[in-house]
This record gives sequence, structure tokens and C-alpha cells, in this order.
Amino acid sequence: MDMQGQSIVSIRDFSKDKIKAIVDKALEVKQGRWSNALNGKVLATLFFEPSTRTRLSFEAAMNGMGGRVIGFADPNVSSAKKGETLGDTIKTVTGYVDAIVIRHPVEGAARLASEVANVPVINAGDGSNQHPTQTFLDLVTIQEEFGRLEGLKIGLMGDLKYGRTVHSLAMALSLFGSQLVFVSPPGLRMPEHLCDELNSAGTKFSEADDLESLDQVLDVLYVTRIQKERFADLLEYERVAGAYRIKPETLSGNCQQARIMHPLPRVNEIAEEVDDMPNAIYFRQAHNGVPTRQALLGLVTGAIQ
Ligand code: CP
Repeated sequence: MDMQGQSIVSIRDFSKDKIKAIVDKALEVKQGRWSNALNGKVLATLFFEPSTRTRLSFEAAMNGMGGRVIGFADPNVSSAKKGETLGDTIKTVTGYVDAIVIRHPVEGAARLASEVANVPVINAGDGSNQHPTQTFLDLVTIQEEFGRLEGLKIGLMGDLKYGRTVHSLAMALSLFGSQLVFVSPPGLRMPEHLCDELNSAGTKFSEADDLESLDQVLDVLYVTRIQKERFADLLEYERVAGAYRIKPETLSGNCQQARIMHPLPRVNEIAEEVDDMPNAIYFRQAHNGVPTRQALLGLVTGAIQ
């Protein structure tokens, strides 16, 4: 597979076959192939928003394969604080590294960065828009659990309006014939333009206000945090936060066998008692961030074919 020089900005830029090939490559990496493939490569991690998993798993990915990392975790210690434009930052950093990872609060920031950089740019989350590398590690986890990506019944629950992880994931799952159920408060429904895209792709989906009104057995329940930082109106946040919480007793009926996934961080939407249940796979999911991002970094830098 030749992806050398390719930026990873949106899951929409990938065909079903390409996604499947990347998932297989991540599983190869996880099995120990391609060790030290990133030797001599340098990655810039430019995080204009907070992160634990994405930034640290990119760092672990590089360190674990012989690469090195430069960057910042807080824009206040960069020259953005002095008023430098994103374009100028990227035009500068592109001369220092083999690839750039960027997380930014503005939708489209990663696309803009990819247009001015002369190395591959990887979107680590742009506002409420996309988080494609999270989607790849989600799919790796689903492939490991079920031995396939095709034809699964998947519930996406929580903040579907602002959650970039569910936006990317729904787009990818639509390529694999998933039946989707969107479980959210009415004010946090999946955006209309994404529902239109799913309809155009012929993807079957339905909406529910809560898990009690589910009318089908789920293979996966993908839970997301209600994102306080996305709300202009804090009263609206207080009203809906806490209304969607997975407890051991939730895992019955249509959710009895459902694997519980979550991009993390969680706040209070999954009770800690669920962590030790066989359904809970969210920490394994987070750990898949390292081999998945190693595969992606290797592919875009040409170190892995
Ligand atoms: N899943 C995810 O993006 O986590 P972080 O915000 O901690 O990077």
C-alpha cells in the first residue's frame, strides 16, 4: 500500500478497501512486524487543545519504533500566543520534521495545515469535525473483537452533535454495512448534514432518546462524553450531563452482549464498576492507539508499505 506523503485529514478521504488495508496493517504492527521502522524519522505534535491519549500514543508510537518527537502540548508556550497564524506555524515546522500531527479547536484547521505543509499532516481532532486516527483505532478494536468490520449493529450514544469521534466513526461504519442507532438527547442529535450523507450512502440508521427505547440487540455500544467545552450555554450542559450513564444493570436486554467502547476521557457516563465486566473494552481500545498510529505514521512517511 503506497500512502507516502499522504495527509490524514478526514475519514471521507479513504475508501473501504483502504480503511480495511490500514486496519490490517495496524494489526501486523501490533504483532511485532515493522519494529524500528520509524528510525531516523521526526514527528511534530502541535496540540492547540488538551489531550492525553492522542498526544501520548503518538509519542509512544514514535518512541517505540525508533523515531523522535518535537512539539507542544499547550499553544500558550508557542508563538501562537504572540499572534502567529496557523499557516506560518505550519510553514515553519514543515522544515523541521517528517510529519506533523495537529489538534486544533477550529474545524478545517488540519485541512488548511495540509495545504501549506510539504510533509504529511495528521488530523488529531479539529473542533467538532473529525478525528480520523481515533476512528482507525476504533476499527482495529472492532476487528479484533469480532473478526470482521462488516454488518455489525452499533449504537453511538451521548453527544452526537459536537463529538468528532462519532462523526468520523459513523462515516467509516457506513462503508461496512453497519446498522447504526444514534442514542442522544434531542438537543445533541447527529448533525443533519451527516444524516444526509448516511442516507445518500444507503446506511440504515435510527435515532433513540435513551437505551430503554432501543428495539434491537447491539453488538457495540460506543459511548461518548457530553463535552462541556463545546457548550456556549452552561445551563444547557448541566441539563443534559449525567442523563446518559452506563451502569452494570444497563448491560442487560438489548445491551447484554454489547461491547462497550468509549474514545475516552470519560467523566461520569460509564460507572467504574463496569470496567471489570467482560463487555468493557475501552481501555484495550485506547491501547490500540499505539500500533494504529505506528502503522499510520509508517505509511505516510514511507517507512512502512
Ligand atoms: N480519545 C481522545 O482523543 O482522547 P484525548 O483527548 O485524551 O487525546
